[in-house]
Amino acid sequence: MIAVRPPMGWNSWNTFGKDIDEALIFQIADTMVEKGYLAAGYEYLVIDDCWALKERDENGDLVPDPEKFPHGMKAVADYVHSKGLRFGMYSCAGILTCAGYPSSYDHEFRDAALFAEWGVDYLKYDYCNFPKNADGMNRYHTMSMALKATGREICFAACNWGAEQSWNWMRSIGAHTYRSTGDIFDNYRSFMGIFQSQLEHFSQSGPYCFNDLDMLTVGMYNKGNAAIGKPCTDGEYRMQFSLWCLAGSPLMIGADIRDMTPQMEGLLLNQRLIEVDQDRECRPPCLLGRRSVAVPVPKEEKADAVEPLKIVKDKLYTFIKHLSDNRFVIAYYNLHEEEQEISCIFADAGVPYASGYGFQMEDMFTGEDLGVVRDYHIAVVPGHDCRLYRCRLVRA
Ligand code: GLA
Repeated sequence: MIAVRPPMGWNSWNTFGKDIDEALIFQIADTMVEKGYLAAGYEYLVIDDCWALKERDENGDLVPDPEKFPHGMKAVADYVHSKGLRFGMYSCAGILTCAGYPSSYDHEFRDAALFAEWGVDYLKYDYCNFPKNADGMNRYHTMSMALKATGREICFAACNWGAEQSWNWMRSIGAHTYRSTGDIFDNYRSFMGIFQSQLEHFSQSGPYCFNDLDMLTVGMYNKGNAAIGKPCTDGEYRMQFSLWCLAGSPLMIGADIRDMTPQMEGLLLNQRLIEVDQDRECRPPCLLGRRSVAVPVPKEEKADAVEPLKIVKDKLYTFIKHLSDNRFVIAYYNLHEEEQEISCIFADAGVPYASGYGFQMEDMFTGEDLGVVRDYHIAVVPGHDCRLYRCRLVRA
């Protein structure tokens, strides 16, 4: 069974772009095991764009660049599998990939068969250079069928950036995940804009087909390919990672995990947060006391965003997310630059004082036990940071 929960793994694009080769992939595979990423659930190792030669071979097959991958892709897949990981690759629904390499338009069945032969378990499928008159939904459907036809279980990670409101149809054509926005960059506006733009769509994400908020930039500190704009602070990375978990997004790490700060390694491996992402009920987060209005981003603020994402005016978020087994998360996000008090009035979350119930609360970053809290809770949250509490509903 694949994509029963949001897929987790690592992807080469955000940090390495075109600078990928066999040695790097082997080292990443080793690191995923040695540093505990695999044990924490990150099981897919995905090679993104720029792995192929610019021409197909005489049979019409894609060819791995022999300088980057001298032993071919089967050897890479074998190594990745020998570590207990699953292997992912990349192609595109258009004529050429985004970086200009041959792509799978009209070659879907041939390419899918080749990927299966190599031992591929996951295919990211991009949308660049898509012919103007072609039918996007049909072409994603075609690759979905081509993967099924191989007889191999391959996670189909569609990436059409939300074109044609993909959240409405990707599940119906068999995709296991779908990217819903343009590319993430390693800055606050980019990840916050992506999250805000999808707030209305999380209820269409669930088992076997998840809304993918894009690869994480957590821990990149502006090193690498997706480094555009003002680098993120640790507080902003906490916001990014925990928002992805609340949304139940696939968690694909984009940073160089060979070289992480202990704080960022701890964040990506935070089992309490991962459990939220992977909860079996897969419910979207519920935004409480919402007074927010979606407005277009003013032009001058768009400099480092890819597309005119929407921003929500209210800059203090309180979420509750229902988990399985009478567990909940209460989460606060401070979008201001300065420290703020953020509150949760429990009646807003369906637990009025008169009910006689309250929440047993535990800080998800520090593990601190707050005991039983009744009626309301207030957190003091630094600028561009968040606080999350694991809760149980108890008689107070
Ligand atoms: C697109 C995708 C990115 C990445 C690049 C590769 O921009 O959205 O995630 O795969 O292509 O060229």
